Amino acid sequence: MKKKVTVVGAGNVGATTAQRIVDKGYADVVLVDVVEGLPQGKALDMLESAPVLGSDAKIAGSNSYEETAASDVIVVTAGIARKPGMSRDDLLLTNMKIVGAVTEAAVKQSPNAVLIIVSNPLDAMVYQGFKVSGFPKNRVVGMAGILDTARFRSFLAAELNVSVRDVQAYVLGGHGDTMVPLVNHTTVAGVPIPQLLSKERLDAIVQRTRDGGAEIVNLLKTGSAYYAPSAAAVEMVEAILFDQKRILPCAALLEGEYGINGVYAGVPVKLGAGGVEEIVQLDLTADEQAALAKSAASVQELIEIMANNGG
Ligand code: NAI
Ligand code: 2OP
Repeated sequence: MKKKVTVVGAGNVGATTAQRIVDKGYADVVLVDVVEGLPQGKALDMLESAPVLGSDAKIAGSNSYEETAASDVIVVTAGIARKPGMSRDDLLLTNMKIVGAVTEAAVKQSPNAVLIIVSNPLDAMVYQGFKVSGFPKNRVVGMAGILDTARFRSFLAAELNVSVRDVQAYVLGGHGDTMVPLVNHTTVAGVPIPQLLSKERLDAIVQRTRDGGAEIVNLLKTGSAYYAPSAAAVEMVEAILFDQKRILPCAALLEGEYGINGVYAGVPVKLGAGGVEEIVQLDLTADEQAALAKSAASVQELIEIMANNGG
């Protein structure tokens, strides 16, 4: 049977996510947004591109959720995005309300779906999605680690003049300034990265990765990144729809793994039809473990602010 995906938010990330899914023919898509005509117009435009691209996937736009019924995957990108000078955390209370409302409406129609949250601040929003949906933890997961890791891999590949495909890396932790690029688990064709780059160059690339979102916001001035974010979201959608059992860095609810409890943070997970089927435990150095704990603590602070503001 054909798969079905709901994408909530027909803005930059949502529309590009829908487009990538339809272009690849992975599933039928329903694109939902509050703005009248926006999801309908973008969906129709994408549908009309299908004959040229040779895709038989269908896409429809809507301002309500009836048409989304029985989706296999729900991707939530609704909310406001960063503007220059804003941190992801500045979006907290506005997006908490939006993510809560859209999650409630979407999961009512698709109670067996896997829910992928993209809206920022990511780790707090995926916690909000988990709470509001009432879904088991394996069926609520956040997108950020693949994006942060892709930025790290791109910068390393450019620095070393090698294919991005041969750079293996993980960026874990929260999607924010405290993210944790795992230098000791980063290799190029199996060669550890510290053997290939000076500490000074590596530190500069790690910092550029941490600032990767802000670098694009400062260039665009009116919004944030969406090509790489949508590519990352679609890698997760694909892994779930086709039960690929990919090991990917995603935000998952930690209950003791990595010594962290009760918060969502980026860790390597096995992603398949069941959503997060396993949290993969890597051996971290004491410094990496401490950095991950610090990152999780900053997510915990946001969860507390939400709890004190009706979240
Ligand atoms: P955008 O502003 O282009 O699109 C957001 C869309 O959400 C708009 O079309 C808006 O009308 C819609 N929306 C707002 N309230 C809604 C509601 N109640 N129901 C349905 N739709 C609603 O923003 P963009 O660039 O698409 O980013 C979306 C979110 O994703 C932002 O919060 C952004 O910070 C986040 N983001 C997260 C990334 C990650 O790595 N996790 C990467 C990139 C963006
Ligand atoms: C990014 O990292 C804004 O979270 C978004 O580009």
